Amino acid sequence: MPAAINPIQHSFELAAERCGDLTPLVYRRLFSEHPEAEAMFRREGSDLVKGSMLALAIEAMLDFAGARSGHFRMIECEAASHDAYGTPRKLFGEFFGVIADTMRELLGDDWSPEIEQAWRKLLAEIDQFIAQGELATGG
Ligand code: HEM
Repeated sequence: MPAAINPIQHSFELAAERCGDLTPLVYRRLFSEHPEAEAMFRREGSDLVKGSMLALAIEAMLDFAGARSGHFRMIECEAASHDAYGTPRKLFGEFFGVIADTMRELLGDDWSPEIEQAWRKLLAEIDQFIAQGELATGG
């Protein structure tokens, strides 16, 4: 019997049924809530980077919320390497909340209390994970 899918995975599946590519929605929200983030991306060719960054962030979240097979470690690793892009850890962590808010809006009534609860837990755990990494790397 296949393992039951978790509410996080379910929410991404529901989002995929409604929208083929979350990239424009997520970055529109990110840049409207955190205008300083826009200037961190290169001017030319940043669409590919943005699409790939979001895809990898989602892959890492799904792994963090599910099997924890290894992709989730990218969160820790990228948090440190984003220093080079001038991305503070706080903003880095907020990207996950921006993804959540984008999906909540997209799903409307299908965003169930179970999905909401699973996302709250996931975001809190990711925040903790990033804070631990910050302690380990000294900033
Ligand atoms: C608001 C938060 C974030 C900002 C402002 C940000 C900014 C950036 C910038 C400026 C780049 C590179 C641009 C370039 O090469 O020109 C980048 C690349 C990347 N980011 Fe982020 N980032 C954020 C959050 C995240 C998160 C949460 C993850 C994943 C856990 C992530 C994963 C990556 C990856 C994997 C790349 C390399 C993409 C590629 O070149 O294929 N980023 N990010």
